[in-house]
Amino acid sequence: MIIEVIQGDCEEILLSLKDKEYFKGIHLTFLDPPFNQGKEYNSHFDNMPEEEYWKWMERVIKKIYDLTVDGGAIYFMQREKNTEYVLRTLRETGWNFQNLIIWNKLTSAIPSKIRFSKKYQVIAFFTKGDKPLTFNNLRYEPPLLAMHEYERETGMYLTDIWDDIRELTSGYFAGGEAIRIKDNKFFTKEGERFHKQQSPIELLTQIILTSSKVGDFILDPFAGTGVTAIVAKQLQRNSISIEIDPLNVKLIQKRLQLKRDEDDISKFYSNYIYSVNLDKIWSNDAKSIDMKVENYYFKEIPKNKLNNVLLMKETLMNTLINELKISEDAIDFDYRVKDKDNKVHRFELVIHHDKQSNIIFRLIYVKNLKQADFWIKRIGFEYDILKEKKPNSEYLAVLSGLAFKNMIKNIGDEKLKHCLVAFPGWEKIFGLESLKEKFKSLNIKRNRIMEKQISLDNF
Ligand SMILES: C[S@@+](CC[C@H](N)C(=O)[O-])C[C@H]1O[C@@H](n2cnc3c(N)ncnc32)[C@H](O)[C@@H]1O
Repeated sequence: MIIEVIQGDCEEILLSLKDKEYFKGIHLTFLDPPFNQGKEYNSHFDNMPEEEYWKWMERVIKKIYDLTVDGGAIYFMQREKNTEYVLRTLRETGWNFQNLIIWNKLTSAIPSKIRFSKKYQVIAFFTKGDKPLTFNNLRYEPPLLAMHEYERETGMYLTDIWDDIRELTSGYFAGGEAIRIKDNKFFTKEGERFHKQQSPIELLTQIILTSSKVGDFILDPFAGTGVTAIVAKQLQRNSISIEIDPLNVKLIQKRLQLKRDEDDISKFYSNYIYSVNLDKIWSNDAKSIDMKVENYYFKEIPKNKLNNVLLMKETLMNTLINELKISEDAIDFDYRVKDKDNKVHRFELVIHHDKQSNIIFRLIYVKNLKQADFWIKRIGFEYDILKEKKPNSEYLAVLSGLAFKNMIKNIGDEKLKHCLVAFPGWEKIFGLESLKEKFKSLNIKRNRIMEKQISLDNF
Protein backbone atom coordinates (compact mmCIF):
# COMPACT_ATOMS: atom_id res chain seq x y z
CA MET A 1 0.00 0.00 0.00
CA ILE A 2 1.28 3.48 -0.84
CA ILE A 3 0.96 6.14 1.84
CA GLU A 4 2.73 9.25 0.58
CA VAL A 5 2.92 12.34 2.76
CA ILE A 6 4.57 15.12 0.81
CA GLN A 7 5.57 18.49 2.18
CA GLY A 8 5.14 21.40 -0.19
CA ASP A 9 2.78 23.65 -2.11
CA CYS A 10 0.10 21.43 -3.61
CA GLU A 11 0.12 23.27 -6.94
CA GLU A 12 3.74 22.35 -7.49
CA ILE A 13 3.51 18.85 -6.07
CA LEU A 14 0.45 18.02 -8.18
CA LEU A 15 2.48 18.80 -11.30
CA SER A 16 5.14 16.32 -10.29
CA LEU A 17 2.83 13.42 -9.35
CA LYS A 18 2.70 12.01 -12.87
CA ASP A 19 6.43 11.30 -12.72
CA LYS A 20 6.09 9.00 -9.73
CA GLU A 21 6.59 5.38 -10.62
CA TYR A 22 3.55 4.14 -8.70
CA PHE A 23 1.19 6.80 -10.09
CA LYS A 24 -1.68 5.48 -12.22
CA GLY A 25 -4.28 8.18 -11.64
CA ILE A 26 -6.39 9.52 -8.79
CA HIS A 27 -9.76 7.88 -8.04
CA LEU A 28 -10.96 10.22 -5.33
CA THR A 29 -9.95 13.62 -3.94
CA PHE A 30 -10.99 15.17 -0.66
CA LEU A 31 -10.49 18.91 -1.06
CA ASP A 32 -10.59 20.86 2.17
CA PRO A 33 -8.56 24.01 1.52
CA PRO A 34 -8.22 26.98 3.84
CA PHE A 35 -11.55 28.82 3.50
CA ASN A 36 -10.02 32.28 3.21
CA GLN A 37 -11.69 33.47 6.35
CA GLY A 38 -8.72 34.91 8.18
CA LYS A 39 -7.87 31.76 10.16
CA GLU A 40 -4.45 31.42 11.65
CA TYR A 41 -2.16 29.10 9.65
CA ASN A 42 1.60 28.71 10.08
CA SER A 43 2.38 28.54 6.38
CA HIS A 44 -0.57 30.13 4.67
CA PHE A 45 -2.14 33.59 4.50
CA ASP A 46 -5.88 33.05 4.89
CA ASN A 47 -7.09 36.46 3.87
CA MET A 48 -6.51 36.72 0.16
CA PRO A 49 -8.55 38.99 -2.11
CA GLU A 50 -11.63 37.00 -3.11
CA GLU A 51 -10.78 36.89 -6.79
CA GLU A 52 -7.24 35.75 -6.18
CA TYR A 53 -8.43 32.99 -3.87
CA TRP A 54 -10.87 31.58 -6.41
CA LYS A 55 -8.31 31.79 -9.23
CA TRP A 56 -6.00 29.78 -7.02
CA MET A 57 -8.73 27.20 -6.32
CA GLU A 58 -9.45 26.98 -10.03
CA ARG A 59 -5.81 26.19 -10.83
CA VAL A 60 -5.63 23.52 -8.11
CA ILE A 61 -8.92 21.92 -9.11
CA LYS A 62 -7.97 21.83 -12.79
CA LYS A 63 -4.71 20.12 -11.94
CA ILE A 64 -6.57 17.52 -9.89
CA TYR A 65 -8.94 16.98 -12.82
CA ASP A 66 -6.03 16.26 -15.13
CA LEU A 67 -4.68 13.65 -12.72
CA THR A 68 -8.04 11.95 -12.08
CA VAL A 69 -9.12 8.73 -13.84
CA ASP A 70 -12.36 8.77 -15.87
CA GLY A 71 -15.27 8.55 -13.47
CA GLY A 72 -13.07 9.57 -10.52
CA ALA A 73 -14.63 11.79 -7.85
CA ILE A 74 -13.92 14.99 -5.98
CA TYR A 75 -15.50 16.13 -2.71
CA PHE A 76 -14.93 19.85 -2.25
CA MET A 77 -15.78 21.09 1.24
CA GLN A 78 -16.52 24.79 1.74
CA ARG A 79 -18.47 27.36 3.71
CA GLU A 80 -22.06 27.52 2.54
CA LYS A 81 -21.70 31.20 1.63
CA ASN A 82 -19.23 30.16 -1.10
CA THR A 83 -21.52 27.57 -2.67
CA GLU A 84 -21.93 29.59 -5.84
CA TYR A 85 -18.17 29.81 -6.39
CA VAL A 86 -17.65 26.16 -5.53
CA LEU A 87 -20.15 24.93 -8.10
CA ARG A 88 -18.92 27.31 -10.77
CA THR A 89 -15.25 26.53 -10.26
CA LEU A 90 -15.83 22.79 -10.44
CA ARG A 91 -18.03 23.06 -13.52
CA GLU A 92 -15.66 25.39 -15.36
CA THR A 93 -12.73 23.07 -14.76
CA GLY A 94 -14.57 20.17 -16.42
CA TRP A 95 -16.16 18.30 -13.50
CA ASN A 96 -19.74 16.96 -13.54
CA PHE A 97 -22.21 17.67 -10.76
CA GLN A 98 -23.51 14.75 -8.67
CA ASN A 99 -24.60 16.16 -5.30
CA LEU A 100 -24.38 19.19 -3.12
CA ILE A 101 -24.10 17.54 0.27
CA ILE A 102 -25.29 19.53 3.24
CA TRP A 103 -23.21 18.64 6.25
CA ASN A 104 -25.14 19.65 9.35
CA LYS A 105 -22.19 19.65 11.68
CA LEU A 106 -24.22 19.12 14.83
CA THR A 107 -22.57 22.05 16.49
CA SER A 108 -23.96 25.32 17.69
CA ALA A 109 -24.88 27.65 14.88
CA ILE A 110 -22.94 30.82 14.10
CA PRO A 111 -25.37 33.40 15.42
CA SER A 112 -26.53 36.39 13.44
CA LYS A 113 -28.80 39.34 14.10
CA ILE A 114 -29.62 40.03 10.48
CA ARG A 115 -30.14 36.55 9.03
CA PHE A 116 -30.78 32.99 10.19
CA SER A 117 -27.94 31.52 12.19
CA LYS A 118 -25.63 29.35 10.12
CA LYS A 119 -25.31 25.69 10.90
CA TYR A 120 -24.06 23.74 7.91
CA GLN A 121 -21.19 23.41 5.53
CA VAL A 122 -21.37 22.26 1.91
CA ILE A 123 -19.53 19.36 0.33
CA ALA A 124 -19.80 19.39 -3.45
CA PHE A 125 -19.54 15.92 -4.97
CA PHE A 126 -18.53 15.99 -8.63
CA THR A 127 -17.08 13.39 -11.00
CA LYS A 128 -14.92 13.37 -14.09
CA GLY A 129 -17.50 12.43 -16.71
CA ASP A 130 -21.23 11.90 -16.23
CA LYS A 131 -21.11 8.78 -14.16
CA PRO A 132 -19.02 7.86 -11.17
CA LEU A 133 -16.61 5.01 -11.71
CA THR A 134 -17.45 3.85 -8.19
CA PHE A 135 -20.51 4.70 -6.17
CA ASN A 136 -21.11 2.34 -3.28
CA ASN A 137 -24.62 3.21 -2.28
CA LEU A 138 -24.27 2.88 1.48
CA ARG A 139 -27.18 2.02 3.71
CA TYR A 140 -27.07 3.20 7.27
CA GLU A 141 -29.12 2.91 10.39
CA PRO A 142 -30.51 6.27 11.42
CA PRO A 143 -31.08 6.73 15.14
CA LEU A 144 -34.51 5.74 16.34
CA LEU A 145 -36.40 8.88 17.20
CA ALA A 146 -38.89 9.02 20.03
CA MET A 147 -41.81 9.33 17.60
CA HIS A 148 -40.73 6.24 15.62
CA GLU A 149 -42.20 3.02 16.82
CA TYR A 150 -39.90 0.59 15.00
CA GLU A 151 -36.36 0.60 13.76
CA ARG A 152 -35.98 0.09 10.01
CA GLU A 153 -35.19 -3.57 9.44
CA THR A 154 -32.46 -2.93 6.90
CA GLY A 155 -31.63 0.74 7.39
CA MET A 156 -31.89 3.25 4.56
CA TYR A 157 -29.76 4.73 1.78
CA LEU A 158 -27.64 7.74 2.62
CA THR A 159 -29.03 10.98 1.33
CA ASP A 160 -27.40 14.30 0.47
CA ILE A 161 -28.07 15.60 3.99
CA TRP A 162 -25.44 14.36 6.39
CA ASP A 163 -26.59 15.10 9.84
CA ASP A 164 -25.09 12.58 12.19
CA ILE A 165 -21.39 13.33 11.92
CA ARG A 166 -20.22 15.75 14.53
CA GLU A 167 -17.60 18.36 13.75
CA LEU A 168 -14.55 18.28 16.04
CA THR A 169 -13.65 21.87 15.93
CA SER A 170 -16.30 23.51 17.97
CA GLY A 171 -14.95 24.26 21.40
CA TYR A 172 -16.26 21.93 24.02
CA PHE A 173 -16.95 19.00 21.74
CA ALA A 174 -13.54 18.63 20.19
CA GLY A 175 -13.34 15.35 22.17
CA GLY A 176 -10.57 12.75 22.22
CA GLU A 177 -10.17 12.58 18.44
CA ALA A 178 -8.98 16.19 18.24
CA ILE A 179 -5.20 16.32 18.34
CA ARG A 180 -3.82 18.47 21.13
CA ILE A 181 -0.44 19.97 21.79
CA LYS A 182 1.13 20.92 25.09
CA ASP A 183 4.70 22.02 25.82
CA ASN A 184 5.60 21.29 22.19
CA LYS A 185 4.38 17.69 22.45
CA PHE A 186 1.65 16.34 20.14
CA PHE A 187 -1.13 14.01 21.20
CA THR A 188 -1.41 15.20 24.76
CA LYS A 189 -4.68 14.69 26.65
CA GLU A 190 -4.90 18.36 27.51
CA GLY A 191 -3.76 21.51 25.82
CA GLU A 192 -4.60 23.54 22.74
CA ARG A 193 -6.05 21.84 19.71
CA PHE A 194 -3.18 21.41 17.27
CA HIS A 195 -5.16 22.20 14.13
CA LYS A 196 -8.43 24.09 14.34
CA GLN A 197 -9.70 22.68 11.04
CA GLN A 198 -9.25 18.98 11.78
CA SER A 199 -11.97 16.99 9.98
CA PRO A 200 -13.60 14.02 11.71
CA ILE A 201 -12.51 10.53 10.64
CA GLU A 202 -16.18 9.60 10.35
CA LEU A 203 -16.66 12.10 7.53
CA LEU A 204 -13.77 10.65 5.55
CA THR A 205 -14.91 7.10 6.26
CA GLN A 206 -18.23 7.89 4.60
CA ILE A 207 -16.62 9.61 1.60
CA ILE A 208 -13.92 7.00 0.99
CA LEU A 209 -16.28 4.07 1.43
CA THR A 210 -18.77 5.58 -1.00
CA SER A 211 -16.48 6.70 -3.77
CA SER A 212 -13.58 4.26 -3.88
CA LYS A 213 -12.58 0.62 -3.90
CA VAL A 214 -9.84 -1.22 -2.03
CA GLY A 215 -6.53 -0.41 -3.74
CA ASP A 216 -7.68 2.90 -5.28
CA PHE A 217 -5.67 6.12 -5.01
CA ILE A 218 -7.02 8.88 -2.76
CA LEU A 219 -5.64 12.40 -2.86
CA ASP A 220 -5.74 15.10 -0.19
CA PRO A 221 -3.94 18.22 -1.47
CA PHE A 222 -4.52 20.19 1.78
CA ALA A 223 -3.88 17.39 4.22
CA GLY A 224 -3.77 19.30 7.54
CA THR A 225 -3.69 16.59 10.20
CA GLY A 226 -3.75 13.74 7.67
CA VAL A 227 -7.32 12.60 8.22
CA THR A 228 -7.58 11.21 4.67
CA ALA A 229 -4.41 9.14 5.01
CA ILE A 230 -5.51 7.82 8.41
CA VAL A 231 -8.84 6.58 7.07
CA ALA A 232 -7.56 5.45 3.66
CA LYS A 233 -4.94 3.26 5.33
CA GLN A 234 -7.52 1.46 7.43
CA LEU A 235 -9.71 0.89 4.38
CA GLN A 236 -6.69 -0.32 2.39
CA ARG A 237 -6.68 2.46 -0.15
CA ASN A 238 -3.47 4.15 -1.33
CA SER A 239 -3.17 7.78 -0.35
CA ILE A 240 -1.23 10.87 -1.36
CA SER A 241 -1.33 13.70 1.17
CA ILE A 242 0.15 17.10 0.41
CA GLU A 243 0.65 19.68 3.13
CA ILE A 244 2.61 22.91 3.05
CA ASP A 245 3.36 23.20 6.76
CA PRO A 246 6.36 21.07 7.85
CA LEU A 247 5.02 20.75 11.40
CA ASN A 248 1.73 19.37 10.09
CA VAL A 249 3.66 16.90 7.95
CA LYS A 250 5.58 15.72 11.00
CA LEU A 251 2.32 15.31 12.86
CA ILE A 252 0.72 13.28 10.05
CA GLN A 253 3.67 10.90 10.02
CA LYS A 254 3.46 10.45 13.76
CA ARG A 255 -0.31 10.02 13.65
CA LEU A 256 0.02 7.28 11.05
CA GLN A 257 2.50 5.40 13.23
CA LEU A 258 0.59 5.85 16.47
CA LYS A 259 -2.65 4.06 15.54
CA ARG A 260 -4.61 5.85 18.27
CA ASP A 261 -7.86 4.27 19.45
CA GLU A 262 -9.56 7.57 18.67
CA ASP A 263 -8.51 7.17 15.04
CA ASP A 264 -9.84 3.63 14.76
CA ILE A 265 -12.69 3.67 12.24
CA SER A 266 -13.99 0.19 13.08
CA LYS A 267 -16.48 1.80 15.45
CA PHE A 268 -18.38 3.10 12.42
CA TYR A 269 -18.68 -0.29 10.74
CA SER A 270 -21.99 -1.03 12.35
CA ASN A 271 -23.45 2.20 10.95
CA TYR A 272 -23.27 0.72 7.46
CA ILE A 273 -24.10 -2.87 8.27
CA TYR A 274 -27.03 -2.93 5.84
CA SER A 275 -24.96 -1.95 2.82
CA VAL A 276 -24.93 -4.81 0.33
CA ASN A 277 -21.25 -4.99 -0.45
CA LEU A 278 -19.80 -3.78 2.82
CA ASP A 279 -17.32 -6.59 3.33
CA LYS A 280 -15.94 -6.01 -0.13
CA ILE A 281 -15.47 -2.26 0.19
CA TRP A 282 -14.43 -2.33 3.85
CA SER A 283 -11.33 -4.45 3.57
CA ASN A 284 -11.50 -7.37 5.91
CA ASP A 285 -8.13 -8.00 7.41
CA ALA A 286 -8.19 -10.65 10.10
CA LYS A 287 -6.93 -8.35 12.83
CA SER A 288 -9.61 -5.75 12.52
CA ILE A 289 -12.58 -8.10 12.31
CA ASP A 290 -12.68 -8.72 16.04
CA MET A 291 -12.48 -5.03 16.70
CA LYS A 292 -15.36 -4.41 14.30
CA VAL A 293 -17.49 -7.07 15.88
CA GLU A 294 -16.61 -5.77 19.31
CA ASN A 295 -17.70 -2.28 18.37
CA TYR A 296 -20.67 -3.63 16.58
CA TYR A 297 -22.37 -5.04 19.57
CA PHE A 298 -22.20 -1.80 21.44
CA LYS A 299 -25.33 -1.18 19.46
CA GLU A 300 -26.79 -4.61 19.94
CA ILE A 301 -29.44 -3.55 22.39
CA PRO A 302 -31.03 -0.23 21.47
CA LYS A 303 -30.54 2.54 23.97
CA ASN A 304 -34.22 3.00 24.53
CA LYS A 305 -34.50 -0.63 25.58
CA LEU A 306 -31.99 -0.36 28.36
CA ASN A 307 -34.63 -0.68 31.07
CA ASN A 308 -35.67 -4.04 29.67
CA VAL A 309 -32.07 -5.17 29.86
CA LEU A 310 -31.82 -4.15 33.47
CA LEU A 311 -35.07 -5.94 34.22
CA MET A 312 -33.77 -9.01 32.49
CA LYS A 313 -30.64 -8.86 34.57
CA GLU A 314 -32.69 -8.78 37.75
CA THR A 315 -34.78 -11.74 36.66
CA LEU A 316 -31.79 -13.83 35.71
CA MET A 317 -29.95 -13.04 38.89
CA ASN A 318 -32.97 -13.93 41.00
CA THR A 319 -33.44 -17.21 39.19
CA LEU A 320 -29.80 -18.14 39.51
CA ILE A 321 -29.51 -17.24 43.15
CA ASN A 322 -32.91 -18.27 44.49
CA GLU A 323 -33.83 -21.22 42.33
CA LEU A 324 -30.54 -22.65 41.18
CA LYS A 325 -28.83 -21.78 44.45
CA ILE A 326 -25.76 -20.34 42.82
CA SER A 327 -23.79 -18.16 45.16
CA GLU A 328 -23.97 -14.48 44.39
CA ASP A 329 -20.17 -14.18 44.50
CA ALA A 330 -19.94 -16.65 41.66
CA ILE A 331 -21.95 -14.48 39.28
CA ASP A 332 -20.64 -11.66 37.18
CA PHE A 333 -23.14 -9.73 35.21
CA ASP A 334 -21.95 -7.54 32.46
CA TYR A 335 -23.81 -5.98 29.56
CA ARG A 336 -22.52 -3.85 26.75
CA VAL A 337 -24.94 -1.19 25.69
CA LYS A 338 -24.54 2.52 25.31
CA ASP A 339 -26.83 4.39 27.61
CA LYS A 340 -28.08 7.94 27.15
CA ASP A 341 -24.83 9.35 28.55
CA ASN A 342 -22.86 7.37 25.99
CA LYS A 343 -21.54 5.02 28.65
CA VAL A 344 -20.84 1.54 27.40
CA HIS A 345 -22.34 -1.49 29.10
CA ARG A 346 -21.63 -5.09 28.27
CA PHE A 347 -24.32 -7.72 28.40
CA GLU A 348 -22.79 -10.94 29.58
CA LEU A 349 -23.35 -13.28 32.46
CA VAL A 350 -20.48 -15.35 33.80
CA ILE A 351 -20.88 -17.96 36.47
CA HIS A 352 -17.59 -18.96 37.99
CA HIS A 353 -17.68 -22.68 38.73
CA ASP A 354 -14.21 -23.23 39.99
CA LYS A 355 -10.68 -22.32 38.91
CA GLN A 356 -10.84 -24.31 35.71
CA SER A 357 -14.35 -23.61 34.54
CA ASN A 358 -16.87 -20.89 33.99
CA ILE A 359 -20.27 -20.81 32.43
CA ILE A 360 -20.81 -17.87 30.16
CA PHE A 361 -24.25 -16.86 29.05
CA ARG A 362 -24.31 -14.51 26.16
CA LEU A 363 -27.65 -12.99 25.34
CA ILE A 364 -27.83 -12.24 21.67
CA TYR A 365 -30.59 -10.64 19.72
CA VAL A 366 -30.16 -11.02 15.98
CA LYS A 367 -32.27 -8.84 13.79
CA ASN A 368 -31.17 -9.97 10.36
CA LEU A 369 -28.70 -12.10 8.45
CA LYS A 370 -25.97 -9.48 8.52
CA GLN A 371 -26.08 -9.37 12.26
CA ALA A 372 -26.20 -13.14 12.38
CA ASP A 373 -22.95 -13.34 10.40
CA PHE A 374 -21.29 -11.18 12.98
CA TRP A 375 -22.45 -13.19 15.89
CA ILE A 376 -21.38 -16.43 14.29
CA LYS A 377 -17.85 -15.07 14.09
CA ARG A 378 -18.04 -13.60 17.54
CA ILE A 379 -19.32 -16.76 19.20
CA GLY A 380 -16.53 -18.76 17.60
CA PHE A 381 -13.99 -16.25 18.80
CA GLU A 382 -15.27 -16.08 22.37
CA TYR A 383 -15.64 -19.83 22.58
CA ASP A 384 -12.03 -20.42 21.52
CA ILE A 385 -10.68 -17.88 24.00
CA LEU A 386 -12.75 -19.30 26.82
CA LYS A 387 -11.63 -22.84 26.11
CA GLU A 388 -8.03 -21.80 25.93
CA LYS A 389 -8.16 -20.01 29.27
CA LYS A 390 -10.47 -22.44 31.10
CA PRO A 391 -10.79 -25.70 29.21
CA ASN A 392 -13.73 -27.08 31.19
CA SER A 393 -15.92 -24.06 30.65
CA GLU A 394 -19.27 -23.90 28.95
CA TYR A 395 -20.31 -21.22 26.51
CA LEU A 396 -24.02 -20.70 26.25
CA ALA A 397 -25.25 -18.36 23.59
CA VAL A 398 -28.84 -17.49 24.28
CA LEU A 399 -30.19 -16.56 20.91
CA SER A 400 -33.25 -14.73 19.91
CA GLY A 401 -34.55 -12.60 17.08
CA LEU A 402 -35.37 -12.99 13.43
CA ALA A 403 -32.19 -14.58 12.21
CA PHE A 404 -31.46 -17.09 14.93
CA LYS A 405 -32.17 -20.02 12.59
CA ASN A 406 -29.42 -18.89 10.32
CA MET A 407 -27.06 -18.66 13.24
CA ILE A 408 -27.84 -22.10 14.53
CA LYS A 409 -27.22 -23.52 11.07
CA ASN A 410 -23.93 -21.75 10.64
CA ILE A 411 -22.27 -21.84 14.00
CA GLY A 412 -21.03 -25.32 13.14
CA ASP A 413 -21.40 -28.64 14.88
CA GLU A 414 -18.57 -28.30 17.29
CA LYS A 415 -19.70 -24.99 18.72
CA LEU A 416 -23.35 -25.80 18.42
CA LYS A 417 -23.01 -28.20 21.33
CA HIS A 418 -22.29 -25.22 23.45
CA CYS A 419 -25.04 -23.07 22.18
CA LEU A 420 -28.30 -22.77 23.96
CA VAL A 421 -31.47 -21.39 22.45
CA ALA A 422 -33.84 -20.30 25.13
CA PHE A 423 -36.91 -18.41 24.12
CA PRO A 424 -40.53 -19.41 23.75
CA GLY A 425 -40.90 -21.86 20.93
CA TRP A 426 -37.26 -22.86 20.71
CA GLU A 427 -37.98 -26.49 21.32
CA LYS A 428 -39.88 -26.72 18.02
CA ILE A 429 -36.91 -25.64 16.02
CA PHE A 430 -34.09 -27.05 17.93
CA GLY A 431 -33.66 -30.60 19.26
CA LEU A 432 -35.37 -30.39 22.61
CA GLU A 433 -33.87 -33.59 23.96
CA SER A 434 -30.29 -32.55 23.50
CA LEU A 435 -30.98 -29.24 25.18
CA LYS A 436 -32.67 -30.90 28.10
CA GLU A 437 -29.54 -33.01 28.47
CA LYS A 438 -27.44 -29.93 28.40
CA PHE A 439 -29.49 -28.28 31.12
CA LYS A 440 -29.31 -31.43 33.17
CA SER A 441 -25.59 -31.89 32.78
CA LEU A 442 -25.02 -28.32 33.82
CA ASN A 443 -27.41 -28.76 36.67
CA ILE A 444 -29.56 -25.93 35.38
CA LYS A 445 -33.23 -26.71 35.50
CA ARG A 446 -35.37 -25.80 32.57
CA ASN A 447 -37.48 -23.03 33.83
CA ARG A 448 -40.47 -21.65 31.98
CA ILE A 449 -40.47 -18.33 33.78
CA MET A 450 -36.85 -17.78 33.14
CA GLU A 451 -37.21 -18.62 29.47
CA LYS A 452 -40.03 -16.20 29.08
CA GLN A 453 -38.26 -13.42 30.86
CA ILE A 454 -35.02 -13.69 29.00
CA SER A 455 -36.66 -13.67 25.63
CA LEU A 456 -35.36 -10.70 23.73
CA ASP A 457 -38.18 -11.09 21.24
CA ASN A 458 -40.19 -8.97 23.60
CA PHE A 459 -37.87 -6.05 23.10
C1 LIG B 1 -8.64 23.37 6.17
S1 LIG B 1 -7.08 22.73 6.50
C2 LIG B 1 -7.28 21.03 6.15
C3 LIG B 1 -7.68 20.24 7.36
C4 LIG B 1 -7.71 18.76 7.11
N1 LIG B 1 -8.87 18.38 6.33
C5 LIG B 1 -7.69 17.99 8.42
O1 LIG B 1 -8.65 17.24 8.69
O2 LIG B 1 -6.80 18.15 9.21
C6 LIG B 1 -6.13 23.29 5.16
C7 LIG B 1 -4.66 22.88 5.21
O3 LIG B 1 -4.05 23.29 3.98
C8 LIG B 1 -2.70 23.64 4.25
N2 LIG B 1 -2.24 24.47 3.10
C9 LIG B 1 -2.43 25.78 2.90
N3 LIG B 1 -1.91 26.16 1.71
C10 LIG B 1 -1.41 25.04 1.15
C11 LIG B 1 -0.78 24.77 -0.09
N4 LIG B 1 -0.54 25.73 -0.97
N5 LIG B 1 -0.39 23.49 -0.36
C12 LIG B 1 -0.63 22.50 0.53
N6 LIG B 1 -1.21 22.71 1.73
C13 LIG B 1 -1.61 23.96 2.03
C14 LIG B 1 -2.77 24.36 5.57
O4 LIG B 1 -1.52 24.36 6.23
C15 LIG B 1 -3.85 23.54 6.31
O5 LIG B 1 -3.26 22.57 7.12
